[in-house]
Amino acid sequence: MSIRPTAPEDSFAARRLISIDDLSDADITYVLDLADHYAGFLRRSQPAPQRLAGVTQINLFFEDSTRTNLSFDLAGKKLGADVINVPVAASSVHKGESLVDTAQTMAAMGARVMIVRAKEESLHYTLDDVLPCMIVNGGAGTREHPTQALLDAATIRSEFETLEGLVVAICGDVKHSRVAASDARLFQRLGAEVRFVGPAHLMPQDDQFTDIARADNLKDGLGGADIAMGLRMQFERMGDDGAEAARGYYQEFGLTHETIKLAKPGARVMHPGPMNRGVEIDGALADDRELSLVLRQVFYGVPTRMACLDALLTRGE
Ligand code: CP
Repeated sequence: MSIRPTAPEDSFAARRLISIDDLSDADITYVLDLADHYAGFLRRSQPAPQRLAGVTQINLFFEDSTRTNLSFDLAGKKLGADVINVPVAASSVHKGESLVDTAQTMAAMGARVMIVRAKEESLHYTLDDVLPCMIVNGGAGTREHPTQALLDAATIRSEFETLEGLVVAICGDVKHSRVAASDARLFQRLGAEVRFVGPAHLMPQDDQFTDIARADNLKDGLGGADIAMGLRMQFERMGDDGAEAARGYYQEFGLTHETIKLAKPGARVMHPGPMNRGVEIDGALADDRELSLVLRQVFYGVPTRMACLDALLTRGE
């Protein structure tokens, strides 16, 4: 059994997790170490300490989710919190109640922490200003998905021990991906070299992520890479341009057993999910237990979110 890591002094002064930038370097190391610690409890099917007993946790997802919503649900319950998953589709949002009023209503029920997913990129900051509870970002438009980045880093550490010196190629629809944005920032802070790989129309604007190299073909993008991170083609954010964006994409940029050979020997494939099989990644590669870390990412979602909730709510005390 691993020894519980101790929180560094001055850690977790932050009262929210909306952006990776809300965390200091020491906070990040502590969360990743704590995620590993909790992963041990899950692997042994051992009950975790009830560190959030008495805490009310509200999961408020205005956009669809499987992995993030359910893993936050499980994470809170495993630590002893009372978790409410707001059934947004059947809520008074559909009678015209605003998102802020909905959140304020949930906060008035005694929430200490609220996990929020929304396509409105500034909503989390608005809620942080007006609500008395802690706001944790479960996905904000195309802007940030910090807990996905943390679980991705935990997964990479479980395979390579460290991100220091690794080359991570983030491939596909970078333009619409909050995961790409958070992964890139976090991985760079942890010492990895990050590249964006894809056609120009799926890249961020030229004045964004100016410190990250871009490749418009897989040969250059995957050359020397330790990890190929596929991204979902986010058709719901493309309007009428979706069919055009997908045309010829798989032939040129699809991650397959053939194209992964362009990367470093021993390279691994990741994808935050949900996947469009046959659009950005071949199903056979995604299911290859030797090369693919996709299900390990899902596994790490629970202990990483346990670590985030524990660290934010108890500050390691
Ligand atoms: N990776 C991710 O955020 O998945 P969900 O949309 O299913 O939560």
